[in-house]
Amino acid sequence: MERRRITSVPRQETAVLVALLTPHRSRQQAQEHLDELALLAYTLGIQTLAQFTQHLEKPRVRTLIGEGKLAEIDTFVKMHQVDHVIFDDELTPSQTRNVEAALGCSVLDRNRIILNIFAMRAKTKQAKTQVMLAQYEYLLPRLTKMWSHLSRQKGGNPGMRGPGEKELETDRRIVKEKIGLLRSQLAAIDRQSIIQRKQRKNFVRVSLVGYTNVGKSTLMRLLSKAEVQVEDRLFATIGSTVRRAVVHDIPYLLTDTVGFIRKLPHTLIACFRSTLNEVREADILLHVVDISHPACEEHIGIVQETLQEIGAVSLPTLLVFNKIDRLQPEGDEQTPNVAHLQQSYFRQYGHTSVCISAQRQEHIAELKALLYQHVRAVYQQIYPHGVENTVPDVVL
Ligand code: GTP
Repeated sequence: MERRRITSVPRQETAVLVALLTPHRSRQQAQEHLDELALLAYTLGIQTLAQFTQHLEKPRVRTLIGEGKLAEIDTFVKMHQVDHVIFDDELTPSQTRNVEAALGCSVLDRNRIILNIFAMRAKTKQAKTQVMLAQYEYLLPRLTKMWSHLSRQKGGNPGMRGPGEKELETDRRIVKEKIGLLRSQLAAIDRQSIIQRKQRKNFVRVSLVGYTNVGKSTLMRLLSKAEVQVEDRLFATIGSTVRRAVVHDIPYLLTDTVGFIRKLPHTLIACFRSTLNEVREADILLHVVDISHPACEEHIGIVQETLQEIGAVSLPTLLVFNKIDRLQPEGDEQTPNVAHLQQSYFRQYGHTSVCISAQRQEHIAELKALLYQHVRAVYQQIYPHGVENTVPDVVL
């Protein structure tokens, strides 16, 4: 008799999303935040079934949202057997426990989703160590008996999901030990990065920064002609990539680093400090913006806030408005009026700006001309006696 192997297809995990409408957040803003949260969940393979919002003057201390809304979500969760309820707002450890007890399913917040994406995407030893440290830091104040039995997972991922029965104190001690170990491992990796960065000091250093998914890696590939991963997914790049590039006759180093996002967890920023030092130590920033995104101005603000936090906000910056191919022309225009846009953005932000399409390679000559002016000025400072075409050795 022929035996057939039956392989079961795992059911896709499902979620409902929740956001508060506060006096500081309009319905439209909350909707944009929820759409982005759905994309973050999708990046983790979680399908969004519904979104819930509630208008509250002040969030509730015990459960963030009110009891009525909680009951409404509970009915939906039970009816559709939803796996996760994901909050756009940060939940305190006790709020998470209370909502979890009320709904009887996994409760996550945006921070936790971002941490899990970083964990999934980190490839280098440095990035993996940074993310694991951030996860343990996040986990420590949230440790209750519901967390996984940590002593069984010594080498692995800090088990952001799953039940466990170990004594709470033992788990806390294990997490603290793990944090200490990861910090010292990271310090050793960071020392190596500092040596590498010192070896690059004879180069002009340009760093790509921007909100996630705006096209930084696409531009990196274009400017450095290097093979760089480009994906229509959030946080395709975790860590940083450095490539040699030349603009006209001047060599420079181009760095692509992790994209920013609203409410990027502070533990992540702290743990990624050494990676973000690539940005802080750059001579010039190329701040890439997805001009076709409805919230692009808010994205610029979020990137500027993050740059402020890492001490890089006052670096010479070129604003690169990407994806103009997606813009709809206004009024009678055949194509978007790029010069007009650039002038108005200059007035608004005080940085020289250029509008391009990295994907279609449009207006790249203008970008290169502006970049050349900036790179040349720094190059002349490094080589004041005019050592033309000097290409120093560099370790990437
Ligand atoms: P993270 O690593 O997630 O921060 O993303 P990133 O900013 O490096 O973006 P990436 O280069 O990976 O591009 C994200 C998506 O935007 C990809 O699907 C690209 O093909 C697309 N993209 C990049 N530039 C353009 C452009 O000029 N026009 C259009 N329409 N799409 C673009």
